[in-house]
Amino acid sequence: MSGNHSPSSGSLTDIDHVGIAVRDLDAAVEWYEKMFGATVAHRERIESDGVDEALIKVADSYIQLLQPYTDTSPLAKYMERNGEGIHHVGYRVDNCDEVLESVKAQGARVVDEHPRTGSRGTTVAFLHPKTSFGTLIELVEE
Ligand code: CO
Repeated sequence: MSGNHSPSSGSLTDIDHVGIAVRDLDAAVEWYEKMFGATVAHRERIESDGVDEALIKVADSYIQLLQPYTDTSPLAKYMERNGEGIHHVGYRVDNCDEVLESVKAQGARVVDEHPRTGSRGTTVAFLHPKTSFGTLIELVEE
């Protein structure tokens, strides 16, 4: 036996999705279809983020393809600096508010002070990459 703890993901119950920034959503969807035979499970315009998304289901998780539809979208600004590619990881949690308060209390910098509505009617909150080892983390409560 090594260590005092058995492996546990704690308040993270699953990988909900991997968010990928793309310049042409239709082309990206077509590519996943052609390469892997994967089809879109859900499409949505998320107005609060200024993005169009297409979700491709992989087991119990999703690939979230994201294209900004306006220059004022934070994702558009991100892509000006970083281009296309992996943008964030969405971790599924049972209670977004509870986990958000807990990480804030432990000093994590957050993008969202309070949970808000995400795609598919989920409740979400983002943690700032500055205090999470360079990864933009999204907490997702279904
Ligand atoms: Co996301």
